[in-house]
Amino acid sequence: MKASSFPHLFEPIQIGSMVVQNRIAMAPTDISSANADGSVNQRSIIFHEQVAKGGTGFIIVGATTPDRATGRPTVTCFAADEDPLIPGLASLAEGMHRHGARCAVQLQHPGRQSAWPRKDMISASDQVCDLPGSAGHEVIYAEVAKHGKSIREMSVEETYDLIDKFAEAAWRVQQAGFDAVELHGAHGYLIAQFMSPYVNKRTDRFGGSLMNRLRFPLEIISRIKTKCGRDFPVGIRYSGEEWMEGSRVLAESVKVAEIMQDAGVAFLDISAGIFDVPGPTMDPMYYSQGWNTYTAEEIKKHVTIPVITSHTLRDPAYCERIVAEGRTDMVGLSRGLIADPYWANKAKAGKPEEIRKCISCLVGCWQESLMIKRECRCAINPAVGDERFIKIEKASQKCSVAVVGGGPAGMEAAHIAFLRGHSVTLFEKTGELGGAILNCCMINGKNKMKWYADWIRRQVHELGIEVKYHAAPAAQELKGFDAVILATGGKLVKPEVPGIGLPFVINYEDVLRCTMKNCEHYDPSKPEPVKCGETVLIWGDHFGAADAAEKLGTDGKQVIIVTEAKEFAAWLEPIHKDVMMKRFKGGNGEGLTTKKLAHPVTVLTRTTVVEIRPDGEVVLQDSEFRKTVVKVDNVVLAKFAQDDTLYDALTAQGTTVQKVGDLKAVRNLRAAVMEGSNAALAVEQDLWVNANNSFISDIPTLVTL
Ligand SMILES: Cc1cc2nc3c(=O)[nH]c(=O)nc-3n(C[C@H](O)[C@H](O)[C@H](O)COP(=O)(O)O)c2cc1C
Repeated sequence: MKASSFPHLFEPIQIGSMVVQNRIAMAPTDISSANADGSVNQRSIIFHEQVAKGGTGFIIVGATTPDRATGRPTVTCFAADEDPLIPGLASLAEGMHRHGARCAVQLQHPGRQSAWPRKDMISASDQVCDLPGSAGHEVIYAEVAKHGKSIREMSVEETYDLIDKFAEAAWRVQQAGFDAVELHGAHGYLIAQFMSPYVNKRTDRFGGSLMNRLRFPLEIISRIKTKCGRDFPVGIRYSGEEWMEGSRVLAESVKVAEIMQDAGVAFLDISAGIFDVPGPTMDPMYYSQGWNTYTAEEIKKHVTIPVITSHTLRDPAYCERIVAEGRTDMVGLSRGLIADPYWANKAKAGKPEEIRKCISCLVGCWQESLMIKRECRCAINPAVGDERFIKIEKASQKCSVAVVGGGPAGMEAAHIAFLRGHSVTLFEKTGELGGAILNCCMINGKNKMKWYADWIRRQVHELGIEVKYHAAPAAQELKGFDAVILATGGKLVKPEVPGIGLPFVINYEDVLRCTMKNCEHYDPSKPEPVKCGETVLIWGDHFGAADAAEKLGTDGKQVIIVTEAKEFAAWLEPIHKDVMMKRFKGGNGEGLTTKKLAHPVTVLTRTTVVEIRPDGEVVLQDSEFRKTVVKVDNVVLAKFAQDDTLYDALTAQGTTVQKVGDLKAVRNLRAAVMEGSNAALAVEQDLWVNANNSFISDIPTLVTL
């Protein structure tokens, strides 16, 4: 494919007083990697510099607070509330300018959605936002009452004080050399709290009519213009639809656009949702490419200033089309550029297949980072937050590395080890690389996982890494290798209950097996998936259980899930869980048009299976030892155990070996990618396994083993 395939994406555009070289914007992304005082550090500079180097035309740095004392969206967000922060911000801008990008800072006060402070949060009103959480995670603003959080309506004086602070912050951003500022009026943060009829219940001049609800952002814009001059571009981000009952809908968002244009706003960045309904706000895998484009398209018809659309934009071809058709002026990518900061360059070079497309899992960038007050990471891009992966160093000497298991952990290990110059052999027991990801290809919404599978399989094949299919080597066969990375995954088990061997008791993989026969990686020797009867009991609490329920439910089956845990899927990223539970109840995520499940799914927690009878009766027992019987056509198992047989044999024969991914503990893709890539990064000639069973190659010289 030639660069000319995407001519509209690479046309310059004028935004107020600045010219941007192409139509690709980084949608504001708080990577929560600043210092504790909100100042810029090397980590943040490197991240943004990579995106600029990767060809993104306009980078909108994520939520930056104008007032740390009353609100930080994440605990280590950027701040612009004191002059001593200017030099750091200047270095950040310089890093992006160096590669030709234009850059803005998004000013945001989180109001009721503060990660810090956790108490006495200010807002337009005392309306709470209770983001659905899970037993497994402390979500930033979940379970408000339980965490003793309190939210209060700001006084008029406080509101004017904050308007000033926004303008002061914008001036600091300008001083630092940024080309523009953006106000964050989306997702239910403070400006959105004022703008939204759902949150704003005020009866003073800042509440009620549309103009009153817009007074807060309009005053900020006017004050910024006075302070920074009329030529300094000010943009605003807000949600085209908020998706909460009683909140703003598209018709009002069109009026907002017209008012903002009249107020001298230079660009509109149209997003979606407020956090009370997290699905459209941080679209999980269920949402399809461009599902939110229609909002920008409608708004664009009513204004002449540039409009940016965002949310699940992944393919340059789709982005090219919506720009070419005049449905948007620019495309805004957030997670797409976390997963692959070189997205724009690859598109421009006519190599879209090289893009490591974000799979919308929200695990690295949200669940295991911002949500629990840590820095941003990425499930499929180990370089986020870890510079060692940006420019991979060659090993000092070539080693022979065996990687056993062709799932994500194994493929990632093989990939990184090969890039470091090692000789790599990848053993896969089936005829196809992909491992557990191959169980996602056929599921609504989860088929994005195939994008990553295809990308990493492509790396393995294009690099010419030796792959041995249908190969499950014994310890003896691995003796000659300098290092062995074991990535054989979790082992499916059959609990010892009467009837477990009956023919209608199957594994989740039997249900989910991929049948995409036109896929270039398809293994024709694998069996067809099992066709289940009308009623299916799924026993387990794992991705396999949740995915089997989704697949069988959309196929029209009646599904019962049985788990011993007190909450099903406590491990699941909460926004996915919110949408999944809505679907399990017979509904759908807001804004989703995906086919609904035919019947609600019954979830039985603190329950186990004690007997399966030949006639399909299954005896269940709850934590109070009460027994019930259900009649089903199939029982689907999704239960795992560790299998260390090969690992034990390798250590016994003195092989240098490390376990990675689900073999170590059954978890998720992020754990697999991180452990596989890290193990490979450590492989050197002098390789030891430390007392924690991890590879190390830099033991202090006085230690001899
Ligand atoms: C880690 C992370 C941080 C984000 N930070 C911000 C932010 O600071 N400001 C904002 O307006 N949106 C923020 N968003 C939302 C994104 O800009 C974007 O609207 C959303 O992720 C959907 O677009 P995408 O599919 O391109 O990621 C963030 C999203 C993620 C995943």
